Amino acid sequence: MESVKEVDEEEGSLRGQAQVWQLMFGFADSMALKSAVELRLADIIHSHGGPITLSQIASGIDSSSPDIPYLARLMRMLVRKGIFTANDHPSSDSGDDHQTEYGLTHISKWLLHDSKLSLAPMVVMENNPWQLAPWHYLANCVKQGGIAFEKAHGCNMWDFASRNPEFNKIFNDGLASATKIVMTAFVPQYKDGFDTIRSLVDVGGGTGGAIAEIVKIYPHIKGINFDLPHVAATAPDYDGVSHVGGNMFESIPNGDAVFMKCILHDWGDEDCVKILKNCRKAIPEEGGKVVLVEIVVKEDSNKIFGDMDLVYDLLMFAHQNGGKERTEQQWKKLLQEGGFPRYNIIDIPDLTSIIEAYPL
Ligand SMILES: C[S@@+](CC[C@H](N)C(=O)[O-])C[C@H]1O[C@@H](n2cnc3c(N)ncnc32)[C@H](O)[C@@H]1O
Repeated sequence: MESVKEVDEEEGSLRGQAQVWQLMFGFADSMALKSAVELRLADIIHSHGGPITLSQIASGIDSSSPDIPYLARLMRMLVRKGIFTANDHPSSDSGDDHQTEYGLTHISKWLLHDSKLSLAPMVVMENNPWQLAPWHYLANCVKQGGIAFEKAHGCNMWDFASRNPEFNKIFNDGLASATKIVMTAFVPQYKDGFDTIRSLVDVGGGTGGAIAEIVKIYPHIKGINFDLPHVAATAPDYDGVSHVGGNMFESIPNGDAVFMKCILHDWGDEDCVKILKNCRKAIPEEGGKVVLVEIVVKEDSNKIFGDMDLVYDLLMFAHQNGGKERTEQQWKKLLQEGGFPRYNIIDIPDLTSIIEAYPL
């Protein structure tokens, strides 16, 4: 007879093996999610105002002959993952037959394209083959150093975006959708932070969605959206916001304060210090400040977002030149070296935090 220890050992080993299988095929989850977004499955169900059958979903798909058995297999997985619900109902034609109706969940509501807050463009962006290619170079980087994105594409991400308008649009649309969500948590949480600011520069502001949200709520602020010329050139008009193209390593437009969301995590420490020193030159010594929206890595995983801080850290490893996620100690050191000896961290109901930093 097996001892208790042997049974525990056997079960532990089996569970370990099961976890390897799950991790090995982790990409299947992202691909199923991406397919749901590409097929607009959440939008189709939402447009009916409630749960619908497989054939109703199929008739909403942008295809003259959607393959129903393939769709059924995709839906089965998406239901298992909690992305949609599936409930059996008696068929209206005959009392005996049952048919399955699929509905939305808290997850799929974030996949609606036409909703005010949506993660659909971000799902498309992060799972795009151009974005996935650098992930294959992590081990190579560990062995030989270098930058995964450059190994995959021959240049850094910003040069790649400047040469590839399709990638530029996919990237900027993805970021804009995620930023809109973060700003709904950021703006109410930082309500007194903008009272004395008359002009605010969003450095690396993308297509300007974040500064537009701030100016909409605080119309006394003159908003300046500053990004690389190929990004600023594609930014839509927003009331109270001007778009300026340039390079933050050369100079940053003047303002009472600088806002930077998800910028410093793209860069190594030396580059961050250069950016921070340019921020300092752009703001007044007295009363000026830099407001960062960034991840602060803590000991434990995030209560709601789990290990996303470390996932983001690997994303920076795969995509950026020296980019990484930082602990509070690392932020403190960076800010001091960049000329901001005083800082304050405000947690918001999001994966990111607000870091206010002062030159005096
Ligand atoms: C991760 S995105 C963040 C965009 C925006 N802050 C947001 O959170 O949605 C980084 C941004 O930095 C911009 N960027 C990269 N290098 C830059 C440079 N040298 N000067 C100005 N902007 C730059 C990119 O074009 C991109 O829009």
